[in-house]
Amino acid sequence: MDEITITKAGPADIDQLQSISKTTFTETFSQYNSEQNMTHYLNESLSKSRLSAELMNEGSEFYFARLAKEVIGYLKVNVAPAQTDLQDVNSFEIERIYVLQEYQGKKVGQLLFKYAISLAQQRKSQYIWLGVWEHNAKAIRFYEKNGFIPFSSHAFKLGDDEQTDILMKKELR
Ligand SMILES: CC(C)(COP(=O)(O)OP(=O)(O)OC[C@H]1O[C@@H](n2cnc3c(N)ncnc32)[C@H](O)[C@@H]1OP(=O)(O)O)[C@@H](O)C(=O)NCCC(=O)NCCS
Repeated sequence: MDEITITKAGPADIDQLQSISKTTFTETFSQYNSEQNMTHYLNESLSKSRLSAELMNEGSEFYFARLAKEVIGYLKVNVAPAQTDLQDVNSFEIERIYVLQEYQGKKVGQLLFKYAISLAQQRKSQYIWLGVWEHNAKAIRFYEKNGFIPFSSHAFKLGDDEQTDILMKKELR
């Protein structure tokens, strides 16, 4: 595979961000959820207005993994008070890490993950944490392989379905 570059996404990248977000979310979760709940999530949580607000949020950053010009994966990271839970100023959250199905298993996720670690280290964060759906075995394996350990859980609502995310963390110093 040609070289993959990681670039920061800004407000002008909203169309590409919405496209990669919707495609990867659908590829990952449509088989486990009702069409109604998926449509609700895609229309509400991944609407242009919601994603634009997230792009403008000072505590959040988005990064694209690109192969030539194509966006093949993305990363969303948060520091407090933009985090989805904890809100610990010493911590760094990976909220989303997604690779197009076609490119999974080729270490693109690993590249995005390493990038997240370097961002957290630059900020001198004490630890990095994330929430992952309890039945997302592939992602859990990926995080375990990268040294994350479970420490708590939180509820996540997908449409009318109350789901459980496992919270995992990795100490950085
Ligand atoms: C989790 C994820 C980011 C990992 O990224 P990746 O680029 O696939 O990571 P890797 O290339 O390191 O592969 C991870 C594992 O996938 C498996 N894999 C191998 N070939 C694969 C393929 N063709 N398709 C899918 N997975 C494959 C391998 O077992 C590999 O583990 P290994 O390193 O022990 O061999 C990616 O799979 C993904 O985007 N999943 C869907 C979205 C998701 O669940 N995100 C997390 C939400 S919390």
